[in-house]
Amino acid sequence: MVIGKPLYTVEQIQAKVREVADRITREYDGKEIIMVCILKGAFMFFSDLVRYIRIPIKVDFISCSSYVRSDSTGEVKMHQDLREDIKDKHVILVEDIADSGLTLNFLREHLLQREPASLKICALLDKKDRRIVDVPLDYVGFRIPNEFVVGYGLDYSNMFRNLPYIAVFKKST
Ligand code: IMP
Ligand code: MG
Repeated sequence: MVIGKPLYTVEQIQAKVREVADRITREYDGKEIIMVCILKGAFMFFSDLVRYIRIPIKVDFISCSSYVRSDSTGEVKMHQDLREDIKDKHVILVEDIADSGLTLNFLREHLLQREPASLKICALLDKKDRRIVDVPLDYVGFRIPNEFVVGYGLDYSNMFRNLPYIAVFKKST
């Protein structure tokens, strides 16, 4: 297994996360937000993002995993649901990466059933070429090519999440 050079360095990631946090701070000034972290992948992005936001927020966590079958139909399994009541609240769903879009689409539908005042989606990475279902992304850090990446919360088999940067991962043959 080979971890390539950083695709995004610690400095590049931190600068981008601050930029996204500044936008959220400006756009939600005077409103109460519940920020929702999708576990596990978004944990590191989420913890930096909320630190850079300069308005009061609440946080909550949701956990799920997606299984994409060969016929391109996906199934999302929920492991842990929200604890906060989001009815009439402004919600921002925070994800590490939008790939096929199945996870975000599933969670979006799931949360919309609870009638939040608004629901926006924030993804650090967007692998748009891989999209199967169209899902609206309101805040995106970096658009990346179709490569498998690890680090900064993103994993291969639950490993490499602790790298402070993002790198392309290649399986050695
Ligand atoms: P989607 O439902 O296909 O959009 O998949 C989203 C999930 O797949 C993310 O939450 C990630 O956990 C995982 N994923 C997709 N691409 C990558 C990658 O390049 N590296 C690590 N995890 C990935
Ligand atoms: Mg993952």
